[in-house]
Amino acid sequence: MKLAIVEGDGIGKEVIPAAVRVLDALEMDVEKVYLELGYGKWEKTGSAITDQDIEILKSCDCILFGAVTTPPDPNYKSVLLTIRKELDMYANIRPIKPLPCVDCNFEREDFNFVIVRENTEGLYSAIEEIGEDASYTKRIVTRKGSKRIAEYACKLAKSRKNELTIVHKSNVMKSDKLFLDVCRETASEHEVEYSDELVDSMAYKLMVSPEKFDVIVTTNLFGDILSDMSGALVGGLGLLPSANIGTEHAFFEPVHGSAPDIAGEGIANPIAAILSLKMLLEWHGDIMQAGLVEEALESSLNMGVTTPDLGGSFTTEEVTEAIVEHIEIK
Ligand code: NAI
Ligand code: MG
Repeated sequence: MKLAIVEGDGIGKEVIPAAVRVLDALEMDVEKVYLELGYGKWEKTGSAITDQDIEILKSCDCILFGAVTTPPDPNYKSVLLTIRKELDMYANIRPIKPLPCVDCNFEREDFNFVIVRENTEGLYSAIEEIGEDASYTKRIVTRKGSKRIAEYACKLAKSRKNELTIVHKSNVMKSDKLFLDVCRETASEHEVEYSDELVDSMAYKLMVSPEKFDVIVTTNLFGDILSDMSGALVGGLGLLPSANIGTEHAFFEPVHGSAPDIAGEGIANPIAAILSLKMLLEWHGDIMQAGLVEEALESSLNMGVTTPDLGGSFTTEEVTEAIVEHIEIK
């Protein structure tokens, strides 16, 4: 596997080395390509990501990414949006399930669902008219875009409980009728059991009875909001991994940002980054190694080896070493 590694800014420089330490413990055949992207690079060179960087990313099988700081400067080109667009990463995947750990602030342990978010169209089309008295953003829903995300969600549902929930707001926004119809058709073709929910009542149901859901497919903005909201069920940003999947490339990153408030202190929780590595291994077909990472991580959580965000007093490095030790014993 040829793997691009981008630490980025802030705690990206702490949690990505932790994930790489875990990868090294697996003793796999990996060619690592390190790239500097983000705000730090922008300060030094005037650009956060160059065309050459994109070419290097395209030459790799997949990308492990930390986090970047995004300043409120209109001249700053978003690294993440650039990568998503250039590498056509159309599916944003966030698995939401609890981890065993004493001090996390969740009460339920029985849910396990995945949000599959369309990542290239919807209200994030960037087709906008901004005026003094009126502003417009065009909401794009295409058959092609809906079909490929529906296909992805159905295949995932097949590998799980075979249940798909299509989330939309087609009663008010007619553009969502196309999305709903294409998802229904695709689910029928794949013989996946499906139902649909309006996004507002879905937000309520996810908080009240998350155990009722398996695979959820939705449009860009709704997926963005529902997945951040669902993070609250798990017990914190330091625990949430994500994947951006394209036709040829895939990109794995913790959901959290560069956390300037704790950067440099060595106390960032590396679990979201390590779980992102686990998703990368699954995507690449290294199922045994992915399982090993998950087991090791759960063992160290069960032993109470946690960073301060989870109520512990261990450092990023100590948590990482505990996980690595579990891998090395196996
Ligand atoms: P953030 O996710 O960086 O931090 C929010 C809060 O969660 C902070 O109190 C932070 O200390 C805590 N936190 C986050 N990750 C943690 C971890 N692994 N362990 C322990 N605590 C953790 O979000 P914020 O503060 O809104 O954004 C900071 C910067 O990150 C901004 O420049 C923003 O644009 C950028 N950002 C980048 C993202 C990315 O690269 N994908 C995603 C979100 C924000
Ligand atoms: Mg978001």
